[in-house]
Amino acid sequence: MSETLNGPTDKTTDDAARPAEAAARKAVYVKSYGCQMNVYDSQRMADVMGAEGYREVASPEEADLILLNTCHIREKAAEKVYSELGRMRVIKDAARADGRQVLIGVAGCVAQAEGEEIVRRARTVDLVVGPQSYHRLPDLVARAAARPGVVDTEFPVEDKFRHLPDAAEAATRARGLSAFVTVQEGCDKFCTFCVVPYTRGAEVSRPVAQVLDDVEKLARAGVREVSLLGQNVNAYHGEGPDGLDWDLPRLLRRLVEVPGIARLRYTTSHPREMTDALIAAHRDLPELMPYLHLPVQSGSTRVLAAMNRKHSREDYFRIIDRVRAARPDIALSSDFIVGFPGETDADFEDTMDLIRRVGFAAAYSFKYSPRPGTPAAGEEDQLPETLKTERLHALQALITEQQRAFQDSLVGRVMDVLFEKPGRKPGQMVGRSPYLSPVQVIAPSSVAGTIVSVRITGTQTNSLNGVLADAPHMNAVQAAE
Ligand code: 5AD
Ligand code: SF4
Repeated sequence: MSETLNGPTDKTTDDAARPAEAAARKAVYVKSYGCQMNVYDSQRMADVMGAEGYREVASPEEADLILLNTCHIREKAAEKVYSELGRMRVIKDAARADGRQVLIGVAGCVAQAEGEEIVRRARTVDLVVGPQSYHRLPDLVARAAARPGVVDTEFPVEDKFRHLPDAAEAATRARGLSAFVTVQEGCDKFCTFCVVPYTRGAEVSRPVAQVLDDVEKLARAGVREVSLLGQNVNAYHGEGPDGLDWDLPRLLRRLVEVPGIARLRYTTSHPREMTDALIAAHRDLPELMPYLHLPVQSGSTRVLAAMNRKHSREDYFRIIDRVRAARPDIALSSDFIVGFPGETDADFEDTMDLIRRVGFAAAYSFKYSPRPGTPAAGEEDQLPETLKTERLHALQALITEQQRAFQDSLVGRVMDVLFEKPGRKPGQMVGRSPYLSPVQVIAPSSVAGTIVSVRITGTQTNSLNGVLADAPHMNAVQAAE
C-alpha cells in the first residue's frame, strides 16, 4: 500500500448542537499514518470506541484517548511514531497536571512489529494494539486505564471484520460521496523487502455478503464511488453466497449492480493476479474507473527475482499491453524501489527504460529501506545512501515529466466528473475525474453529488480546470436557480 495515497480523515460529529452532553462524554483522537488501509482501520477504531460512548475529536488536546495508527513499511515511517509520541507525551502530562487521565495507544503495523519494545522505548505509551485486535479495543483501554503497558499483538483465529461495527453504518455519518471498503487484508507473497506479510499476516478475504451489505448501505447513504481496499486486493477470494470462492472480477461485476454505485476502484494490486477475468472486467464495466495502480518495484528481471516478485519485466509489459487493449483510456500508476541490495547501474537503467516504455500517470517511489526480519535486509551488498538518493531523484524527475505529459494530454478531452462541493473560486464547483484529479468547473451548486460531463480546458499543479460539456443545458439550470 502506498503511504502517499493517504487522505485526510473526515471528522464529523453532531456534538456541536449538544455541547454540554458532548463534554461529559469521553473523547478519542486517532491519527493515521501510511496507507488507505490504516485510514480505514482508524475509522473502525473510532467506531468501536464510539460504541462505548466516546466521541471522535480532531485534536489530541481534546482527547482522553489518543491512538496513533502507525506504518512500518519503511524506517522513516516507523521512526515518525517516536517523535510523535514525544509530542503526545507533553499533552498527556499537561492533562495530568489538570487532574485528567489521558491514555496513549499505539496501533497499526509498528505496534504489530515492535510490540512490547514500544512500551520499553516510550514509557508514555499505555497500550499497544495490533491490526488484528481492534475489536478488543474497549477491553484493552479499560485494562490500560487501570494498569498501563497493555500489549495485544495476537493474530487471533476469529474474524476481526465480524466483530467491528458495521463499516457502512459508520460511513453514513461521514456524508461523503466516496468511501473505502476493505475487502482483503494481509499478504502471502513475501517480497524480500517487505514487512507486510509479518505485520498484517496471511491473506484473508471478506465474504461477498459482508462486502455487498457494506456497499449497499453506503449507496443508500449517498455514496457514489467505492474503492475496494486490500494489501493484495486482486488476490481477493471471498466466500460467495453460492458457497464458492469469488474472485475480484466476479465481486466487481456484482457490485456494479448495486443501485447508486456509479464508480468502483480497487487498490493495491500485484502483477501476478492481473488475470484475464480481471482485465475483461476493465473492458466490460464502465463503472470500473480507468485507473490502475499496479506496483512493479523494478524494471530489472534480475532484481525482480531477488525481490521474489515472481514476474519478469516482460511479464509486466505483457500485462500492460493487455490492460490497454481492453481499456484504451486507462491510466497507470506504480510503486518503485530504488537501491535494492545489489542493484547495478544497468538494473536501474532497466527501471528507467520500463518507465519510459509504459508511461505512467503517477507513481510512488522509495529508496530501499532495510526492514528488520526481512530477507533483503540481511543481504551484504547494501547500496550507499548517496547512490540511492541519486537514483531516486533521477527516477522522480522522469515520473514528474510523465505526470505533466499525462495531465496535458487530458486538455480538450471530455470526461465524467463526480461533483463534490464548492470549488476554489466563487461560482466554481469541484469534483473528481476518473483519474482522481480534482476538477474545478463553473457550475451550479445543484451538481453536487452528480456525475456530469466536463470538457477539460487546462491544468494546474494538482488539479484540472474544465467547463460543463453540456453547457446549454447547464446554463438553463443556472438560470432557473
Ligand atoms: N523499502 C522501500 N520501499 C518499500 N516498500 C515496501 N517495503 C519497502 C522497503 N523495505 C514500498 C513498495 C510498496 C510500497 C507500499 O512501499 O514500493 O509497493
Ligand atoms: Fe509487500 Fe510484496 Fe505483499 Fe506487496 S505483495 S504487501 S510488496 S510482500
